[in-house]
Amino acid sequence: MEMINLPWLDAGGRLRLDRLQIRNGHLVVAGQPRRLEPSEITAATEQIVVPGYIDAHVHFRQPGQAYKEGIANGCLAALAGGVTTVFDMPNTNPPTCTAAALAAKRRLWNGRAKVGWGLFIGCDGSKIASRVDKTGAANARNGLYKIPTPENLGIDSSAVAAMKVFMARSGSCAAVNDPEVLAQLMLSWPRIAVHAEDESKFPRTATGLTHEQLRPRASVIAALHKLEKALELAEKHYGRMPECRLILLHLSTSEEVQWVRRMKERGYKITAETCPHYLYFTNADLAECGAQLQVNPPIRDADDQAMLWQALADGTIDMINSDHAPHAQAEKASANPPSGIPGIERMWQLLALAADSGRISWQRALALAGQNAAKCYGIAGRGELVDGARADLVVLRRNKAADSYSPRKIVTRAGYDAYRHLKFPWEVERVLIAGKTAWEQHNSRALPLAEEVYAAKPIC
Ligand code: NCD
Repeated sequence: MEMINLPWLDAGGRLRLDRLQIRNGHLVVAGQPRRLEPSEITAATEQIVVPGYIDAHVHFRQPGQAYKEGIANGCLAALAGGVTTVFDMPNTNPPTCTAAALAAKRRLWNGRAKVGWGLFIGCDGSKIASRVDKTGAANARNGLYKIPTPENLGIDSSAVAAMKVFMARSGSCAAVNDPEVLAQLMLSWPRIAVHAEDESKFPRTATGLTHEQLRPRASVIAALHKLEKALELAEKHYGRMPECRLILLHLSTSEEVQWVRRMKERGYKITAETCPHYLYFTNADLAECGAQLQVNPPIRDADDQAMLWQALADGTIDMINSDHAPHAQAEKASANPPSGIPGIERMWQLLALAADSGRISWQRALALAGQNAAKCYGIAGRGELVDGARADLVVLRRNKAADSYSPRKIVTRAGYDAYRHLKFPWEVERVLIAGKTAWEQHNSRALPLAEEVYAAKPIC
């Protein structure tokens, strides 16, 4: 049994001084609790133990574009950021929109992953009729694709993170933005995760327009209207709330925050996510940083940013995930750069910065780092340090003033660190996966392959 003799943050965000032990890859919390208030995390506190981050939104680009990242390197970047579980998006090439593509992607991950992992299944909008009948039979008669329900796809919905829906095309994933189709999906899946920009509101010609003008706020507002209509349609169809949890991805605007507040108040099962780039940048930074900060949805203005911070503090937003979207440096430097920002290797540092500076409490930080993701995505025993949980741990070490810019080598194949201007008060010193050291002082350790979180295999 290994003993961790460092202060650790319990599930309520309090600092505990009693023993944390690891037995067979799981935590044993023994002895009398000795608690401190989070305010007692002071400049003199040199190390604290926190749960491994669950980053439920990454693009590791395999199959098809491993040169941009790949599963093996993406996992190293995750470890550098104190991330011990990732969920990979389906806009790979080919897209993960069928049972065969999902099985093939699973094989790739099974042979390479060094952090816990789960996969999204994608909804291929190009295969769905714009008008759908209740059973899908008329569509089938007309040679159109049925609604991709778990049954139609031959997929066990409890073995994927969620059905991912892009309301604007992303790479090989065509858009889905018909409220009727969205309603059918809500009635068929336990969770759908939505990229809410309605591409029908994008301007037709691109000439002379900035990225923000090409993907206007109006497209987000239109997407929210459609999602609301879909929820109401689903409710009307069944005469009750849809069981489905709607995960609204990468919130970037005040309109989304207000919508989530309103819809949660109405009793819908909504989980809201934002990403570090919307919290640490505004569109005023775009001129200086150029394509490195080009992302979908675009980074908006200071009022949006302030609203996002408020929503993190008050619980409207439930998760901060990276939307780690690496592209090759030459692609980013081209005349027509792709959208996406890498960020996974700073996740715990960015969150600890927010907690350390008092923008959010340590308790909220823990909720945002994994407690809420574990609940939302149904992966019990992760995301908090409680007796019996998996021993996925991160040791944070306080930065000395001299190295507070924490220069270090960049792990992601994207080759740049968007957050290089920030002073981080905490460093990721050590990461343990199921009780085994996977990363220490910025070096990876030889490790067994990590498991798929939905596979429910025992830890060895
Ligand atoms: C994502 C990517 O690169 O895969 N890019 C991004 O800007 N977020 C895809 C997407 O969500 O559009």
